[in-house]
Amino acid sequence: MGRKTILLLIVGVLGAYYVYTPLPDNVEEPWKLVLMNAHVKIITNLALFAELLGIDHFLNILTLFMGLQEVPPTSDENVTVMDTTFNNVPVRVYVPKRKSETLRRGLFYIHGGGGFSGSAALLTYDFLSRRTVDRLDAVVISTNYRLAPKYHFPDQFEDVYNALRWFLRQDVLDKYGVDPERVGISGDSAGGNLAAAVTQQLIDDPDVKIKLKTQSLIYPALQTLDMDLPSYQENSHFPVLSKSLIARLWSEMFTTDRSLEEAMLVNQHVPVESSHLFKYVNWSSLLPEKFKRGYFYNSPTLGSSELAKKYPGFLDVRAAPLLADDDKLRSLPLTYVITCQYDVLRDDGIMYVTRLRNAGVRVTHNHIEDGLHGALSYHGFKIAYRTENQYMNWLRENL
Ligand SMILES: *[C@@H]1O[C@H](CO)[C@@H](O)[C@H](O)[C@H]1NC(C)=O
Ligand SMILES: *[C@@H]1O[C@H](CO)[C@@H](O)[C@H](O)[C@H]1NC(C)=O
Repeated sequence: MGRKTILLLIVGVLGAYYVYTPLPDNVEEPWKLVLMNAHVKIITNLALFAELLGIDHFLNILTLFMGLQEVPPTSDENVTVMDTTFNNVPVRVYVPKRKSETLRRGLFYIHGGGGFSGSAALLTYDFLSRRTVDRLDAVVISTNYRLAPKYHFPDQFEDVYNALRWFLRQDVLDKYGVDPERVGISGDSAGGNLAAAVTQQLIDDPDVKIKLKTQSLIYPALQTLDMDLPSYQENSHFPVLSKSLIARLWSEMFTTDRSLEEAMLVNQHVPVESSHLFKYVNWSSLLPEKFKRGYFYNSPTLGSSELAKKYPGFLDVRAAPLLADDDKLRSLPLTYVITCQYDVLRDDGIMYVTRLRNAGVRVTHNHIEDGLHGALSYHGFKIAYRTENQYMNWLRENL
């Protein structure tokens, strides 16, 4: 074989590896998805390789390669945009320019990005905030928070909670012309995790008198205890979020020590002393039949107490909102949950829907049958517009 043939062969094999993605029939625009997935696979592998060479931490390299585009706070004809801080936490504020006779809705938004990337300034989130202002005539506060791998739990929780508490002060709401009876919180993915966690925390906070009217959780991550849910088994290699990536991301939220990730991957990270918590994430009792079909419930194997002693965060309700007891859940506001069929995090969201409904909370559950993780953020994909429309319509009716 000549050199050219060998080269062609290598290119062919690599091409097949990166492009071959078996997809279900109902997935819209499959070629766009295949290309996006190839892109993600390539940068993930490059980042892993660079980490192996000792160049930098995997997540830092990943962020670099992702080339996430941030935009400045530019006002336009409809909205005044500014960067400021709430309780020392950087936030981006969007206020409608049009005069209003009455007070407005207020929406506190928490971006996603796996806990290691993303910001309010990211093009996709800046765009979403502007659309929210235009479509709902709302004041939008889009918050930032400290990220992994430099910062660990509870830093991200504290940042978001501090910014939220600042926003919920009467004088701050007055300043932005926001109706204290119409304040909602929303977040996607890692931001959905934080939205659920701070909304719970707010319930018993004696210092905050103004409460939230709605919470919208968009494909949120809500627990780490059981990483072998049917959705994990079904979608372990589905674009764009694989089971191995999410184990890495969850563990990086608490530590850079890889032993937590290794234990999570085999579902042996929860110690005997915490086995009583499994009832809160028991998919056998919390998932509707449709999602359980074909799976057998095995109680996860219990691990040693060492990991939980070193990194208690993964058993903390502020990191895993599904661990709240029913008494706590009962007082939660009107809730909207988006879950996607092809998403490892699907069953987190569905179990939360069941638990909230059992506790008497009013919940609208929007399950997207052909959806995948991140659907709202994939600009240029039809599914992004569909998801955004459904989400905005719900807010218009309920906030
Ligand atoms: C401002 O709002 C109008 C009416 O909703 C819309 O047509 C226009 O595109 C908006 N401008 C920008 C820059 O978004
Ligand atoms: C989970 O739920 C099933 C019933 O659906 C029950 O048999 C099992 O004991 C439960 N396991 C735990 C750990 O709560």
